[in-house]
Amino acid sequence: MANKNLNQAKNAKKDEFYTQLVDIENELRHYRAHFKGKTVLCNCDDPRVSNFFHYFSYNFEQLGLKKLITTCYKNQNRDLFSQNDSERAIWLEYLGDKNGDRVPNPEEIGIHYFNGDGDFRSAECIELLKQADIVVTNPPFSLFREYVAQLMKYEKKFVIVGHQNAIHYKEIFPLIKENKLWLGYGFKGGAAHFYSKYEDTATAGDHREGMIRVSGVNWFTNLEIPKRHEDLILYKCYNPVDYPKYDNFDAINVNKTSEIPMDYVEVMGIPITFLDKYNPEQFEILGTSTTDMPKGAPYVGGKRIYERILIRRKPMQDVVGANNDSTLQMGQPASYNQPDTTLPLAAEDPEKYNRTGVSHTPSK
Ligand SMILES: C[S@@+](CC[C@H](N)C(=O)[O-])C[C@H]1O[C@@H](n2cnc3c(N)ncnc32)[C@H](O)[C@@H]1O
Repeated sequence: MANKNLNQAKNAKKDEFYTQLVDIENELRHYRAHFKGKTVLCNCDDPRVSNFFHYFSYNFEQLGLKKLITTCYKNQNRDLFSQNDSERAIWLEYLGDKNGDRVPNPEEIGIHYFNGDGDFRSAECIELLKQADIVVTNPPFSLFREYVAQLMKYEKKFVIVGHQNAIHYKEIFPLIKENKLWLGYGFKGGAAHFYSKYEDTATAGDHREGMIRVSGVNWFTNLEIPKRHEDLILYKCYNPVDYPKYDNFDAINVNKTSEIPMDYVEVMGIPITFLDKYNPEQFEILGTSTTDMPKGAPYVGGKRIYERILIRRKPMQDVVGANNDSTLQMGQPASYNQPDTTLPLAAEDPEKYNRTGVSHTPSK
């Protein structure tokens, strides 16, 4: 049902979904240590409606940011429900609080005009991208491939929203396999409500006024997070009845991530949801049924089953080694051991929201 929302949006290139502040907070609290001293770029973000701009400007000091750059695309297609309807595309630069009120005031925010439309692929935007250490946004779903390719080209760190369908893209899956991109903590229940004027096809119980519900959304990142180094606890043992081999590939079929047999070290096919639990010290990703199996799909007992990711356990000593000291091995900031506390947000005070002088979509 909610996927219909996304498909419609993608087909019509309807990219106007606006992320809720609470969803941004829930994800980014796990990345706090990464932001210290960094320049953050939000490059698909009209500051009047973007909660990414809001999050970083109001938490600039708490995060210890060096600079926040936000670029606003001037959508040329008036048929879209774009709120990016300013006369000219602009970009903002915020270097933190100057007058001591710890709030981003208009006079503290530098407004610059683009010559072009602020497309993230334009030369002007790429110059800003080069300045950035970490890119954080919800980019247009319809341009996700290009968006990620550009981040990779300029070797940027990022935390971005995308749809889990992107995992299947031929441009994205190899990055996951090569541990250049992974899933973040994600949205509650794998679905999120976004501010949007598109028609919501969610069921009545899930409907929220002025919002659209999209299932299968996730966060994609290349920043180290503790989740990625947590071992999946396995409790099942291999037997050929519960774990039959595929008709068309030399691997066993596993129907649930939690049922991966702990004593099996050869190739296994596992549902794509495994990626949410993937720890590269425990498993290696080898491919997918679509790309690596004859007929492009897994068959068991003559029946075609859902797409699988092909994985293999890493040798036990590696796993033990990872358990011993995975944090240090992966070079994570020591502050990962800090408790996960959400930043106290100035943003929680709606009165302060408007002190930047930009009208803002309600965030809660
Ligand atoms: C999914 S929305 C998210 C908006 C905002 N980042 C947020 O999360 O609230 C994607 C935004 O990217 C903008 N956009 C579309 N094409 C773009 C492009 N080529 N360059 C930059 N932004 C673009 C859209 O107008 C839209 O506002």
